[in-house]
Amino acid sequence: MHVDVHFTPLQTEELSFRDKTIVVIDVLRASTTIVTALFNGAREIIPVTTVERAVKISGRLFGDVVLLGGERNGKMVQGFNLGNSPAEYTEERVKGKAIVFSTTNGSQAIEKARYAQLLLVCAFINISAVAAALNDLNRDFIIVCSGRDGTFSIEDTVCAGLLLHLLQDKHGHELTFSDAAYAAFLLYKAHSKNILKMVKNSQHGKYLAEIGFAEDLKQCAQVDIMGIVPQLMGSVIRLKQDPEKNTVAQPIVHS
Ligand code: MLT
Repeated sequence: MHVDVHFTPLQTEELSFRDKTIVVIDVLRASTTIVTALFNGAREIIPVTTVERAVKISGRLFGDVVLLGGERNGKMVQGFNLGNSPAEYTEERVKGKAIVFSTTNGSQAIEKARYAQLLLVCAFINISAVAAALNDLNRDFIIVCSGRDGTFSIEDTVCAGLLLHLLQDKHGHELTFSDAAYAAFLLYKAHSKNILKMVKNSQHGKYLAEIGFAEDLKQCAQVDIMGIVPQLMGSVIRLKQDPEKNTVAQPIVHS
């Protein structure tokens, strides 16, 4: 299995993702929020790149089954129902709903990789479930880190490195790494003992704490609390497998 890691979605031309297996990561916070929403029973997430498009699409859907969620500059967009805190996406709020979702970086990364043959969404909270899905697939894949405004994000890269660690050291795959994948793997090894500290020290982590979302960092840094795998199907993200089979996550033992 050969693995590559893209530190930002900007480094690639979108058509080059065609026929590829892609894993999109945005630990803070889009991929964590998508996983949480689907875990709590949201029917589907409709990722869109602009606020205007989000409003337009939600207008075409039935009012009682659709919610608008996402952020700009980390804060809820005026007129939206939900921001981008995973904690907002409770079962009470999201069960059975379609969520039109637009965020600054995560939605852009998903959009960029939309021509992939298979696109999975990964965060720390569902990482073993994603590793198990990749293990079953047993094919080359690319991890696309959402980054921050086109620049490198340590939390996405460490999450990518943990995914590689799980495939190699838990599932026993002989991975071949691009240099970027190897760098992600090494970065994870350097931070494996304290993921929360790394998340708190990240640029975006500090920004989110400053604007009042320090609690989100704890949620986003938890490893393996939701055993589900979101997958892009056409233009919507749904659960890859029956949630009944996926709710029990296996705890991770760090080495
Ligand atoms: C994004 O997609 O840019 C992020 O999820 C930003 C955020 O923390 O809300």
